[in-house]
Amino acid sequence: MTGFPIHTPRLLIRSFTLDDAEAMFKVLGDPETMRFFSIWLAKLVENARGFIRWVTGMEREYGYSFWAVVEKESGEVIGDCGLAPLEGRGPQVELGCDLRRDKWNHGYATEAGAASLEYGFNELKLDRIIAVTHPDNVAARRVVEKLGMVLEGKGRHYGGESVIYAKRSPQHLPRDRLYMIFMENE
Ligand SMILES: CC(C)(COP(=O)(O)OP(=O)(O)OC[C@H]1O[C@@H](n2cnc3c(N)ncnc32)[C@H](O)[C@@H]1OP(=O)(O)O)[C@@H](O)C(=O)NCCC(=O)NCCS
Repeated sequence: MTGFPIHTPRLLIRSFTLDDAEAMFKVLGDPETMRFFSIWLAKLVENARGFIRWVTGMEREYGYSFWAVVEKESGEVIGDCGLAPLEGRGPQVELGCDLRRDKWNHGYATEAGAASLEYGFNELKLDRIIAVTHPDNVAARRVVEKLGMVLEGKGRHYGGESVIYAKRSPQHLPRDRLYMIFMENE
């Protein structure tokens, strides 16, 4: 997989436009989907157009963001997934995903998340990507664990409690390994 938009076997991951607002309202307007979102973030996404303006603004500024997830079979936008500066500010880069409730447990978040990580490491050349979620968000935690992200600890993000997961680029070599290569080449 190279380039953007991103194609996976079942999904197309592309930039949002305001035409996606109705589809995103079906995702973000569902109280069950928003269950683990703090008031801070819920206010930001209280209307789908506000959410789309926020993520397209980040994409213009940073070159990546949370993108629209299109189910190829139906052609519908079923949610968002992608990479963004943590809490919209950085400097760390976070993986995020929200899907319409009737599309949960089809493996879509894992498929979109794996593609987003691959894009982040291979195309954006990021060294490290994190994910933050509410400690009780079992589904989100399971997804990031399936993606090989490792629990680093607890924190507070988006105005609420969080657990922090991280994954290093496969290209990343620890300092001692780099030192060994340096010594081998001497
Ligand atoms: C989190 C979310 C994106 C996951 O999407 P998804 O497409 O259903 O995820 P996947 O199907 O790839 O994987 C879900 C995994 O969680 C597991 N899971 C889901 N609900 C669970 C529960 N209540 N208890 C235990 N495991 C659960 C599934 O069994 C699956 O694991 P498995 O493949 O080992 O069986 C989706 O639930 C969602 O949109 N939630 C609301 C928004 C949200 O909280 N987003 C995350 C913000 S950090």
